[in-house]
Amino acid sequence: MTRIDKKPSGESTAVSVRGLVKHYGETKALDGVDLDVREGTVMGVLGPNGAGKTTLVRILSTLLAPDAGQATVAGYDVVRQPRQLRRVIGLTGQYASVDEKLPGWENLYLIGRLLDLPRKDARARADELLERFSLTEAAKRPASTYSGGMRRRLDLAASMIGRPAVLFLDEPTTGLDPRTRNEVWDEVKAMVGDGVTVLLTTQYMEEAEQLASELTVVDRGKVIAGGGIEELKAKVGGRTLRIRPVDALQLRPLAGYLDDLGITGLATTTVDTATGTLLVPILSDEQLTAVVGAVTARGITLGSISTELPSLDEVFLSLTGHRASAPQDTVPTDDREEVAV
Ligand SMILES: Nc1ncnc2c1ncn2[C@@H]1O[C@H](COP(=O)(O)OP(=O)(O)O)[C@@H](O)[C@H]1O
Ligand SMILES: [Mg+2]
Repeated sequence: MTRIDKKPSGESTAVSVRGLVKHYGETKALDGVDLDVREGTVMGVLGPNGAGKTTLVRILSTLLAPDAGQATVAGYDVVRQPRQLRRVIGLTGQYASVDEKLPGWENLYLIGRLLDLPRKDARARADELLERFSLTEAAKRPASTYSGGMRRRLDLAASMIGRPAVLFLDEPTTGLDPRTRNEVWDEVKAMVGDGVTVLLTTQYMEEAEQLASELTVVDRGKVIAGGGIEELKAKVGGRTLRIRPVDALQLRPLAGYLDDLGITGLATTTVDTATGTLLVPILSDEQLTAVVGAVTARGITLGSISTELPSLDEVFLSLTGHRASAPQDTVPTDDREEVAV
């Protein structure tokens, strides 16, 4: 390919952000954000509506100038080297950016031409990416006839035309149904397998867990936590003990038994009938030992027993004191204060 600059060699940090600030009047969209994304990894930026995720992505992709702080992508400074930077990134925004009237193939070909690819290369790249994202059969149809998932796949294909070293995905699956969301996740995983570095913003805990190896949790323009996903979950403390009696009829009696035992500080158990398991929140090793001991003493035969770290939802609640709000497209982000507190 022609115009794609080589990444500066020896660079192991693909994205580096220091003290990034962006204010809109009184609103501190970004209020001193630091983060690093290692080359070849997926960083999840997790936060509710209005946290500052899109502002961050817009600054990193040179669409918006920061008020203060520094950021580099693939070694290029967002303010001083925007032209070079744009050549090594791909961006899929929160809303579909393809031209609805044009067929899928035409969309990709045009973007290739905009990126200065010779006609022949632009054609080949369009064919290759349509194949890759399972859109070959729909290549000649206008994008307006595509399903939500097909459109999002076309979006992802479009962001891959310039063979980006760093890809920004801003809430790639918000508003998609669960099946389509899974399709998009598979595509993202495949891209990561090719060595692309990804910075992904999301409001979905499950998405971060599926795709990201590291997380930066943002809230109201500030980083409130960061690190590996497991590390972050462990930071919050508690675990959940999951017990499955072989005899499902013993589930409820066992729950009642444990709740009545009076083990110090033990919270109420939950019966999960779908999986035939009992969930016991555990705060200490002593509690764990006491619960397992009590179950054994009862002579109940167990099919399985395991402990689980808390879900990211619980992590967020414990870090911020409020739940990460579900996407609410109808609520303007400015109303976030009322929603979140
Ligand atoms: N162009 C703008 N003008 C005024 N306020 C803005 C603008 N863009 C974003 N904001 C505000 O900045 C905050 C962060 O917005 P945004 O980065 O879009 O958050 P997120 O993507 O996490 O939902 C919000 O309070 C939002 O209302
Ligand atoms: Mg956003």
